[in-house]
Amino acid sequence: MSRKFFVGGNWKMNGDKKSLGELIQTLNTAKLDANVEVVCGSPAIYLDFVRSKMDAKLGVAAQNCYKVAKGAFTGEISPAMIKDVGVNWVILGHSERRHVFGEENDELIGQKTAHALENGLSVIACIGEKLDEREAGITEKVVFAQTKVIADNVKDWSKVVLAYEPVWAIGTGKTASPAQAQEVHDKLRAWVKTNVSEAVANSVRIIYGGSVTGSTCKELASQKDVDGFLVGGASLKAEFVEIINANV
Ligand code: G3P
Repeated sequence: MSRKFFVGGNWKMNGDKKSLGELIQTLNTAKLDANVEVVCGSPAIYLDFVRSKMDAKLGVAAQNCYKVAKGAFTGEISPAMIKDVGVNWVILGHSERRHVFGEENDELIGQKTAHALENGLSVIACIGEKLDEREAGITEKVVFAQTKVIADNVKDWSKVVLAYEPVWAIGTGKTASPAQAQEVHDKLRAWVKTNVSEAVANSVRIIYGGSVTGSTCKELASQKDVDGFLVGGASLKAEFVEIINANV
């Protein structure tokens, strides 16, 4: 079963109209592998701007959303609002939402996932263990539990990409080794096969995130169960083009 390689960029809270406009121009004019699906996660305030400037062949994602359509939720944005500006993706469960902003309530992540999918968004669903959890040997327990929360709220898996992002690799320069990434991706795919279906296990993209760079992407991409990347820092640089084209 061939899975279309997927490279997401997560710009986090970075950029302005000038710098993001320049980055978009670079991506619009670069020679990108047509067999790779590219989606860029923009700060919410720039979603309309980015969508309007980004070539239609490139996807745009919000970096979070709330679990209901509207109401007294100051500062939040809804899937309906994201769709309203022509954006079709949202990143959910990112480790910074979980561990910096305290969104560790599995029920909330599940509800956000369900609401986003019900309202026509595709979801990049993030999971990943913290360093102390890896050192305690409970990586599988942690990522399986996080995946279950997502799986319990998914009806159409064609709208979901799973992003394994070991927290200890995010923003640290400590990329997981290809073997470490492959080991967890393989176990995640086996979990999906057992708990969802063999067909979904074979088709769902499981992408890796955590200090992916131009120098680490190719060996990671060569791993059987690594179907792409979710890239932070490097997605804000011209190097992102090299990462998009890593699946040689
Ligand atoms: O969502 C991707 C991000 O968390 C990875 O960040 O800077 O380690 O590539 P970075």
